[in-house]
Amino acid sequence: MKNAHPPVSLITGASAGIGRALAETLLREGHFVYAGYRNSDRARASYGDLWHVDRLKPVRLDVTRQSEIATVMRAVRAEQGRLDNLINNAGFGVYGAFEELSEQELRAQFETNFFGATSMCRAALPLLRASDRARIINVSSILGQLVLPTGSAYCGSKWALEAFSDCLRYEVRHFGIEVVLVEPGLIRTEFKDRILYSKAAREQNPESLYRHLNRKMAENEYGRLVTSAQAAAGKIADVLRKKRPGPRYRIGVDSQIYYALKRVLPARFIDWTFRLAVWNAWRGEKSKRTLSV
Ligand SMILES: NC(=O)c1ccc[n+]([C@@H]2O[C@H](COP(=O)([O-])OP(=O)(O)OC[C@H]3O[C@@H](n4cnc5c(N)ncnc54)[C@H](OP(=O)(O)O)[C@@H]3O)[C@@H](O)[C@H]2O)c1
Repeated sequence: MKNAHPPVSLITGASAGIGRALAETLLREGHFVYAGYRNSDRARASYGDLWHVDRLKPVRLDVTRQSEIATVMRAVRAEQGRLDNLINNAGFGVYGAFEELSEQELRAQFETNFFGATSMCRAALPLLRASDRARIINVSSILGQLVLPTGSAYCGSKWALEAFSDCLRYEVRHFGIEVVLVEPGLIRTEFKDRILYSKAAREQNPESLYRHLNRKMAENEYGRLVTSAQAAAGKIADVLRKKRPGPRYRIGVDSQIYYALKRVLPARFIDWTFRLAVWNAWRGEKSKRTLSV
């Protein structure tokens, strides 16, 4: 069962954005690609003619559904006997001040961004062990290294993914499996438009104690340093080609800059800059700063 080319890669969340771009990049590089999607119409439309390429195998895969994960793994085992690359890319953003996030919203974020990836890893490990050169790429974020106010759900899920990936790396290297984190900055995809804001933030509830903060954070636009999905995919493909990949790679100039700042600036200073940003959002709302009980 040991490696006979082409490399076999499985990408979650491959219907759009980074996952879609990565599928195309890996197909071009000769991989056999299992591309996970949830909605076949959406995925088919996004792939166009590529949908019919021999080495592309679109698979229905919601990473929160154990039965779909098991079905995909059975198919990979039967058709390939091994898996060389697992790219846990599926993810989305839940944003809003923590107090107003519902338990469901918070848990839904972790179900996809964290437990989706852990379930995929558990199911794929036996197949990855059958490869001579296996890689797990977990798509985190620079927000797996830093945080933003109103990002407790998203940042929390990515920080958890980072810790999980570091632990797993030490456990499975012995089997020839490398676990790598990639930490994108802002990437131009549908991610931003599909952010799920807390109900209070969505409805701009006038009773919300956090409406100014929520609005301020939602107003943030893509800056100049945004990276294309194709460039992000190219970087992940570079990582896959490395013989001895490092533990984490940042994608995009913004990600590199924020990471460097985090390393050189004192934690108290970073804390102060965020406090200042939050204070700015609260200006004029001082009377509302105490919570009613
Ligand atoms: N874009 C950014 O600025 C940015 C920055 C840092 C990190 N990231 C990370 O990069 C990854 C890809 O995001 P993107 O920017 O490419 O966003 P995107 O364009 O919105 O694509 C997200 C993909 O994930 C899929 N997905 C969401 N929930 C899923 C689930 N439960 N099961 C299976 N697939 C699911 C979506 O499928 P459907 O089409 O079915 O919804 C879609 O294919 C995410 O993990 C995200 O956190 C993005």
